Amino acid sequence: MQPQGDIALIGLAVMGQNLILNMNDHGFTVVAFNRTVSKVDEFLAKEAKGTKVVGAHSIEEMCAKLKRPRRVMMLVKAGQAVDDFIALVAPHLEPGDIIIDGGNSLFGDSERRRKELEAKGLLFIGTGVSGGEEGARHGPSIMPGGSPAAWEHVKPIFQSVAAKVEDGTPCCDWVGEGGAGHYVKMVHNGIEYGDMQLIGEAYHLLKTGLGMSADEIQAVFAEWNKGVLDSYLIEITRDIMAFRDKDGKPMVDKILDAAGQKGTGKWTVIDSMEHGIPITLISEAVYSRCVSALKSERVEAAKVLKGPGDGKIKVADKKAFIDSIRDALYASKIVSYAQGYMLMTSAAKAYGWTLNYGGIALMWRGGCIIRSRFLGKIKEAYDNNPKLGNLLLDPYFVKEVGDAQAGWRQVIAAAVTAGIPVPAFSTALAFFDGYRTENLPANLLQAQRDFFGAHTYERVDEPRGKFFHTNWTGRGGDTSSSTYTV
Ligand code: 6PG
Repeated sequence: MQPQGDIALIGLAVMGQNLILNMNDHGFTVVAFNRTVSKVDEFLAKEAKGTKVVGAHSIEEMCAKLKRPRRVMMLVKAGQAVDDFIALVAPHLEPGDIIIDGGNSLFGDSERRRKELEAKGLLFIGTGVSGGEEGARHGPSIMPGGSPAAWEHVKPIFQSVAAKVEDGTPCCDWVGEGGAGHYVKMVHNGIEYGDMQLIGEAYHLLKTGLGMSADEIQAVFAEWNKGVLDSYLIEITRDIMAFRDKDGKPMVDKILDAAGQKGTGKWTVIDSMEHGIPITLISEAVYSRCVSALKSERVEAAKVLKGPGDGKIKVADKKAFIDSIRDALYASKIVSYAQGYMLMTSAAKAYGWTLNYGGIALMWRGGCIIRSRFLGKIKEAYDNNPKLGNLLLDPYFVKEVGDAQAGWRQVIAAAVTAGIPVPAFSTALAFFDGYRTENLPANLLQAQRDFFGAHTYERVDEPRGKFFHTNWTGRGGDTSSSTYTV
């Protein structure tokens, strides 16, 4: 009998199962495999009952059931497990067959895996898949990169199962070579950290600063979700506020304030350091999770370190202040996405990728965790000017940030006065003010570096790239240290 399988999927955790069922719904025959093989039979007997899904009890059987070129997708834990499965699968494949890693892998690993597999004549795709369990089942955002020759073979499957925007365009397109797909997913996750932190700060101000109840806060988020902040994360925050524990009290109040993280936000920040790109908001979001995780230390510190007052924000017009919090969230969000795009632009240059920035916004427009109406505006900005240097300079966003600016500043000032931490709101504003400032005090910093270490400086009255050294004390010599920029 001729092999029937269109694609194999390894890893039957909930994401894997749901993606298989989604592919099945779109007419593809999926071969399911799992390291603990009993799970294959359980899946076929339960969730996949009545579908075309085929089970395999060994890697060999799985590969034998696939049409050529074979497409083997893994949804397993990032790291060693991916390499282990590749080592098991590759010997059963032939030149031109494709291995797809759909986990949250580090982009450098995807780059390496592509090279290793291509050396064996195999093709590799490292793809971001976003949207959680529900996305996997009903339409995720899919961000594939890797071996370009593999794309035409996975495109029909990926684009049919992906989420679609209003006009039917799939939230999936080719991102670029090597690790580009996983890179874009990493930045997506970094932005996700930022969005969540911003929402958390707004919640903190509403709850602690204004003393609002979960129900009142629910109404605020419901309102915000009808405007420029319309997004999946605002929507679920609204629903979380309404959710009650068994005793009828808000569930959110029963949850310990110590955040977890699996590492993709941290990777984004680490790579931003390599490129010298200030993604200050994502960095603050990662560090804020770290501060939250110091729960027992904070409990002790709270007894000793006193703030300015009772932590309440005194406002004359509560409704107007809530609007200002919305503006602070919105303006900060614009800065965060601008920073995320700055990082992708720099990475594309460094790693030799041609990224389609509007296309990325479209991929994130639906299906994924950061999906929002706002991303449609980013797509428009890049459609209007594909060479846009910085999102903050797009005319639409210039106006939006301008309009939100007064409220943004007012909220940060009030939070600082009341002693409520708003690290993401404030770092966004600090970046905005820094970015729009023609003359920063780095002239002094350069003078200091030259003073103590002969590190040299450039002059305002000489062309860029010419370096000077001054013998500041009369004691040092005229020899300068070499000039280089990390
Ligand atoms: C997605 C998410 C997902 C991520 C979780 C958990 O796009 O569906 O980004 O990939 O793993 O959100 O991430 P943290 O544990 O780091 O918060």
